[in-house]
Amino acid sequence: MRLSSFSLWFLAFIIGSVSARFSDFESFKNTFNLQEHLGSLSIYHEPYFTGLSSAFPESCEIRQVHVLQRHGSRNPTTGDGVTKAGYLAEVQDKLINGSFPINYKIPDNPFQFIKSWVPVVDVSNADKLSSSGRLELFEMGREVFIRYNTLFDANVYEINTAAQGRVVESAEWYSYGMFGDQMANKTNFIYIAEDETAGANTLSDHKACPVYNEKNVDHKETKEAQSNWEDIFLAPIKTRLNLYFSDYNLTNDDVKSFYYLCVFEIALRDESDFCSLFTPSEVINFEYNTDLKFSFHGGPASEWSETLGGAYVHNLAESLRSVYNETNYQKTFFAFTHDTHIIPVEAALGFFSDVTPENPLPVTYNPYTYSAKTSSFVPFAGNLITELFQCQDQKFYVRHLVNQQVFPLTDCGYGPSNSSDGMCELSAYLNSPVRSNSTYNGTDTFNVACKANPTNVTVHY
Ligand SMILES: *[C@@H]1O[C@H](CO)[C@@H](O)[C@H](O)[C@H]1NC(C)=O
Ligand SMILES: *[C@@H]1O[C@H](CO)[C@@H](O)[C@H](O)[C@H]1NC(C)=O
Ligand SMILES: *[C@@H]1O[C@H](CO)[C@@H](O)[C@H](O)[C@H]1NC(C)=O
Ligand SMILES: *[C@@H]1O[C@H](CO)[C@@H](O)[C@H](O)[C@H]1NC(C)=O
Ligand SMILES: *[C@@H]1O[C@H](CO)[C@@H](O)[C@H](O)[C@H]1NC(C)=O
Ligand SMILES: *[C@@H]1O[C@H](CO)[C@@H](O)[C@H](O)[C@H]1NC(C)=O
Ligand SMILES: *[C@@H]1O[C@H](CO)[C@@H](O)[C@H](O)[C@H]1NC(C)=O
Ligand SMILES: *[C@@H]1O[C@H](CO)[C@@H](O)[C@H](O)[C@H]1NC(C)=O
Repeated sequence: MRLSSFSLWFLAFIIGSVSARFSDFESFKNTFNLQEHLGSLSIYHEPYFTGLSSAFPESCEIRQVHVLQRHGSRNPTTGDGVTKAGYLAEVQDKLINGSFPINYKIPDNPFQFIKSWVPVVDVSNADKLSSSGRLELFEMGREVFIRYNTLFDANVYEINTAAQGRVVESAEWYSYGMFGDQMANKTNFIYIAEDETAGANTLSDHKACPVYNEKNVDHKETKEAQSNWEDIFLAPIKTRLNLYFSDYNLTNDDVKSFYYLCVFEIALRDESDFCSLFTPSEVINFEYNTDLKFSFHGGPASEWSETLGGAYVHNLAESLRSVYNETNYQKTFFAFTHDTHIIPVEAALGFFSDVTPENPLPVTYNPYTYSAKTSSFVPFAGNLITELFQCQDQKFYVRHLVNQQVFPLTDCGYGPSNSSDGMCELSAYLNSPVRSNSTYNGTDTFNVACKANPTNVTVHY
């Protein structure tokens, strides 16, 4: 039995085949799916791990499930930076009103489409989910409800959500997917503030950590890493595309804005002619640029990732331990959040051992094979699911799914199959040096290093 993500795959397939316009690619023809390489703005898809079966292991019973779920596909966010709605709307104006001197006399000018193009990005929708984002979350709620149906024996379910519009709306669509018109009766929404008041209960860890937030920790390093890499990988793109303009030299921001128009038109309309401006290798270099950002800014290349992600991990660990209480334990846990929260959590769980502050991602070339790929871990609607089983030997076993694919845990022994099945016995998992600082002490570390206000735990992840 494979996890019932079939419908989402099917959806991806449909969208992929409709948008044939970006299929005109070099060597990746037939194998390269651009939509899966747009970093944290990628379409929802399973990552390509080792392909372990995500079926429930035979002779094991599911006892708990923990869902950490990102919001769905969205519009660009508010603001004037090159990835933001304000900037992109201005670029759209300039493309339409002739401020970019496109040379239409060149017959194969890839910008010819601009003549009949209708802009898609709309500032008045900034920050909001896209319609595909709503669908993604609804589907996901439905699939989780079906897969874990034996755990749904409560009257009311706590739905923890970062208190931001698109995250809350995502949690709502997901809950509709689980409960339909019983949604209001079946759920108790808990809104976790996105600022310092949330303390260690945060689902927005960058903003809840006063030291990290107020001192702009990691900003400088992240900016330098990205601008270094951009100067390298954007140069040949500019040279190539400059030929299609009259007496004009594209800037880095021009090229980035064309790329982000591609990305957001896909998020909003499932296809984009802007995507055909770029080759697969160029898209993969943009993907790397996003991975540099997430990795240096609170991710595995930052000294802060364990501190930021550790509070959630400690909370999760306490909930896992509660299963030892036969009489009274909670079975389902839901938390809705952002990509920037999920990456530090996964770093604190030890997912990205090849990227560390001592061994960060290089800023002068794309190494291609590295673990911390945002396209794989935090695409739109990305999620981390923690499953707790009780098996025939009566022991408890933990397994993580990343976007519904088994994450191959390797640091804490074998599962009940006595082979690398992605499962670890619960205490081996909690005690593994890879994550034990977080599972035992994540809250204290967060409070001390962040100078955060201690909070009594009132929410359970
Ligand atoms: C074109 O649009 C840009 C951005 O809105 C604006 O700054 C510029 O003045 C416009 N140019 C013309 C010729 O209308
Ligand atoms: C919710 O529960 C109340 C009280 O049990 C009931 O009257 C109401 O019909 C329920 N609403 C829905 C939509 O089922
Ligand atoms: C574009 O850049 C080239 C090389 O740096 C320079 O010679 C040329 O004058 C520039 N053109 C414009 C329009 O700025
Ligand atoms: C198990 O849960 C019950 C009810 O909440 C509580 O009274 C009891 O102390 C718990 N036992 C353990 C071992 O934690
Ligand atoms: C697990 O497999 C190893 C050999 O790979 C064997 O030595 C060991 O006894 C097995 N353990 C269990 C509990 O079956
Ligand atoms: C855990 O914390 C100890 C003490 O602060 C530190 O020496 C150790 O490196 C940490 N382990 C990991 C895996 O970060
Ligand atoms: C837990 O974290 C606090 C704050 O960083 C530290 O002072 C303490 O030594 C840690 N305890 C253990 C057991 O690692
Ligand atoms: C935590 O709970 C204890 C006991 O209920 C209470 O005395 C304390 O003030 C609470 N602390 C915070 C920060 O809310």
